[in-house]
Amino acid sequence: MKEWQKETVYQIYPRSFQDSNGDGIGDINGIISRLDYLQKLGIGLIWLTPMYVSPGNDNGYDIADYYQIDPVFGTMAEFENLLNQAHERGIKIIMDMVVNHTSDQNRWFQEALKSKDNPYHDYYIWRDPVDGHEPNNWVSKFSGSAWKYVPELDQYYLHLYDVTQPDLNWRNEKVRAEIFKMLKFWANKGIDGFRLDVINNISKDKNLPNDTFKTPLDDGRNFYTNGPHVHEYLHEMYEEVFGPNNFVTVGELSSTPISEAVKYTNPKRQELSMAFTFHHVKVDYTGGKKWTLGHYKLTDLTRILSEWQVKMGAQGGWNALFWDNHDQPRAISRFTDDGKYRDQSAKLLAMVEFGLQGTPYIYQGDEIAMKNAYFTDISQYNDHESINAYHALIKSGVSKDEAIKILQQKSRENSRLPMQWDSSKNYGFTTGQPWLKPIHHDDYSVETVLKKKSNVFNFYRALIFMRKNKQVLTDGAYKLLDSHDNSVYSYERFDDKGKILVMANFTGETQERKVADGFNLILGNYDNIELNNGTVTLRPYESIMLENK
Ligand code: NOJ
Repeated sequence: MKEWQKETVYQIYPRSFQDSNGDGIGDINGIISRLDYLQKLGIGLIWLTPMYVSPGNDNGYDIADYYQIDPVFGTMAEFENLLNQAHERGIKIIMDMVVNHTSDQNRWFQEALKSKDNPYHDYYIWRDPVDGHEPNNWVSKFSGSAWKYVPELDQYYLHLYDVTQPDLNWRNEKVRAEIFKMLKFWANKGIDGFRLDVINNISKDKNLPNDTFKTPLDDGRNFYTNGPHVHEYLHEMYEEVFGPNNFVTVGELSSTPISEAVKYTNPKRQELSMAFTFHHVKVDYTGGKKWTLGHYKLTDLTRILSEWQVKMGAQGGWNALFWDNHDQPRAISRFTDDGKYRDQSAKLLAMVEFGLQGTPYIYQGDEIAMKNAYFTDISQYNDHESINAYHALIKSGVSKDEAIKILQQKSRENSRLPMQWDSSKNYGFTTGQPWLKPIHHDDYSVETVLKKKSNVFNFYRALIFMRKNKQVLTDGAYKLLDSHDNSVYSYERFDDKGKILVMANFTGETQERKVADGFNLILGNYDNIELNNGTVTLRPYESIMLENK
């Protein structure tokens, strides 16, 4: 067992975490000032979303200079200080790394634009027009065509994301050599690993064929997701960088089947440590479409989670476990009740996650039950993906009201609200004007939550501690107890020494369920539970963890 299989990762979105200089944007010194808080929570690793020099069209996922810290976040010396201070507290640092694409402001792309003969031109994916049009019908993840025409070159470049994020050409070995050199630069700083952004998209089908559009998923992704050489490239990265540095690595693997996730993460293949996949958070995509008002059935959610648990476990793969991140709306608003049962809901989600096999992730604010932003006007949004989606919805005939409702439910901006530290102005995030305004009055903050008796923060602490001490949670097998139960998710983890049982009531009504003999309560999100003669009565959003030794 590796240490990171028992530890918890805390994801920081630096822009929204803690501002130290009053410019309204979170920064490195802000993070340093909160390390004691994170140490108290008990996490073992921090994942920092990108802080490299960037024009910020995709909040740092558009890198203009891989070797520098963006001044809005601080300096390299401050970054090194953060690294040391985290290490002094026994916390590892994982940097986010984006190598599928760069910013169009990156020097490589600026050179590439100069001429077809420029040595950097082939660093990106260019094609001539076909009958005066785009080279194929692929759709950008941020809406519209994935190709942008450059009249001076009479060519299109590929951008799977924003138009300002041209895709790198991984077939060019000079690109690979540059990337490896850069990864080693950060390894030499003493970081502990990488989170690799959209890493399963780096190897495209050489012929870039049209996709079929038979379903919303046949939009090009069949020809670039888990492409022909991706495992080769990752193994090369492992040999060059990850292995020699004993790195913890997590691959962002969207639209990936279990068979592929196993290949990426089975240690024998020497690629990545763990797979961050999204099937469970797409459970409310109506007809496979994200930008819809979604509903979900608990049985769909438990089916997906269970399939990943069982098959990854059986084939030696390793899951990253999460509900929220900077690309997802808050799960508490989406899957449970962020009103009357807010505390119970936050704890229920935490318990369900921490009971599964894999490495759990906490996204900043989960530990204080932060909820969706519920913006009421498009002008409040900043994120290109959400704004493009809004306009695409309006164009397709959806009313403004409906489009806003959809964004309230699905936009990733929901989770990018500044962290709520205390009851002062802007929740103590900044003394200046926050880059994204916390608009609603919310009495949840670190300060107010910690004052409560049985609070969400302490519940997470208990779970983090349990993960370190109960071996069965790391390597025990998994079993879903009732695949037809649409109200209560019950599963077991077991090994030859004993069993853990998790039961989570995902409804606002009381539910009665049978429990086998011999189980004792080890954690619950209400103060007391009623376990009588093999029957448990679960109150609204109640979740319990029981043990049988
Ligand atoms: C995934 C990142 O998490 C997301 O925030 C970003 O927009 C895309 N990759 C493009 O880099």
